[in-house]
Amino acid sequence: MPWGDTDVVQDQMPQHSLTDGVVMLKLLNLKDAPAWLAGEDEEQRRWFEAPRPSQLSDVEQFIADCQESWRTMGDHRHWGVWSRDPDVVVGGVDLRALGNDEVNLSYLVFPGQRRRGFALRATQLVVEYARTSMSAQTVIIKMLTGNESSRNLALGLGALYVGDEPSDGGATFHVFNLRLHDTPREE
Ligand SMILES: CC(C)(COP(=O)(O)OP(=O)(O)OC[C@H]1O[C@@H](n2cnc3c(N)ncnc32)[C@H](O)[C@@H]1OP(=O)(O)O)[C@@H](O)C(=O)NCCC(=O)NCCS
Repeated sequence: MPWGDTDVVQDQMPQHSLTDGVVMLKLLNLKDAPAWLAGEDEEQRRWFEAPRPSQLSDVEQFIADCQESWRTMGDHRHWGVWSRDPDVVVGGVDLRALGNDEVNLSYLVFPGQRRRGFALRATQLVVEYARTSMSAQTVIIKMLTGNESSRNLALGLGALYVGDEPSDGGATFHVFNLRLHDTPREE
């Protein structure tokens, strides 16, 4: 890997790293848990309908679950997003296979690191991964009504609004679809 921590833990497989030269997507390691926890803010909790602030043990369990899904090549594929200079984790991005050639895309960037293009770069990398490694035809992005940052990011990816549906917490999701066969392939 061109930068960042090259430790490989358990069955973490370095070939799952993705980069565009500006951001590096890598599997989270348990030792990233404090930095991940420090990156949580009220905005993130609101838009993910979190019932309470996370504790370190919650983050460690989340990272362990992510690692287990990678180990088994399960339906959930999560990456931490690292900036290059400084070499720090700035957020995360994930895909969940939904069946029917569909994947759900989700993302977050830590406060203080936003509006620097990290989310757009990271999501573009995993959309290409979804197409090439998960044979996805459609990427689905859902955000709560009022989440303008996420909505604009989805639009920037080329996704189209297709309707509303109830969220897990009883609010309303705007649902966007990105049809991959309509997306130009990178040369
Ligand atoms: C949504 C989020 C991931 C965007 O991350 P980011 O790294 O700041 O996004 P980028 O810098 O890559 O911005 C890409 C585009 O998203 C849109 N965008 C990002 N932040 C925005 C904001 N505060 N207001 C309006 N549009 C915004 C813009 O269209 C932007 O393109 P531009 O900078 O050329 O205008 C970040 O705000 C975040 O983590 N929010 C809290 C968690 C969350 O809501 N996750 C999504 C749940 S559905």
